Amino acid sequence: MVRINPSILAADFANLERDVASISNADLIHVDVMDNHFVPNLTFGLQMVGRLQEVSARPLDVHLMIDDPDRWAPGYAETGAFSVTFHAEAAQDAVALARKLRHIGARAGIALKPGTRVEPYLDLLPEFDQVLVMTVEPGFGGQSFMESVMPKLGLLRDAVGKAGLDVWLQVDGGIDEETISIAAHAGADTFVAGSAVFRSDDPAARIDLLRSLAAQ
Ligand code: DX5
Ligand code: ZN
Repeated sequence: MVRINPSILAADFANLERDVASISNADLIHVDVMDNHFVPNLTFGLQMVGRLQEVSARPLDVHLMIDDPDRWAPGYAETGAFSVTFHAEAAQDAVALARKLRHIGARAGIALKPGTRVEPYLDLLPEFDQVLVMTVEPGFGGQSFMESVMPKLGLLRDAVGKAGLDVWLQVDGGIDEETISIAAHAGADTFVAGSAVFRSDDPAARIDLLRSLAAQ
């Protein structure tokens, strides 16, 4: 099962409703929330995510690049977001927060920056619905894919398989027609793509292409 989640960080912020409508064949819409503290960039907040939820035909996959997710992430789950992913580096108590998100009704995701080791999280996988392995430093779209993080996906895929879990393994950053197969072979099943989708003349066709490349 391959999922393609376009990131609206690369969309036209003055025409989000139009751009979201142009990718109705996406699995989920990836929404990058940045707070200018956890990352040096500022994007959307709670109100914007709530409103997007109302106009989007596809469910939202919210990626929180913010400090203190223990305090703020539940509010995003309460907007009705399909999944809420917070950063391991920012959370005080990742397991308690994931349980809270699930209790509200969202899928709970944990994200790892390129320099963050995955080993401490392998035994905690039943607590999460998704692990996001960042393939760039979080903060900006249009950066180059870091193949050096691929071994983390191998460890995750093994651990998920051994435990018989249904935890989605997501990659985010620099995913395009070249890099998607590298990530898929390494064990990813859920792919975020910003520039590759929105810099195309036909975003919907690009999503279909990425989906077929990932499945090969
Ligand atoms: C980066 C964001 C990504 C970004 C990916 O911090 O988390 O979701 O939009 O953009 P591309 O696909 O252009 O690397
Ligand atoms: Zn993201």
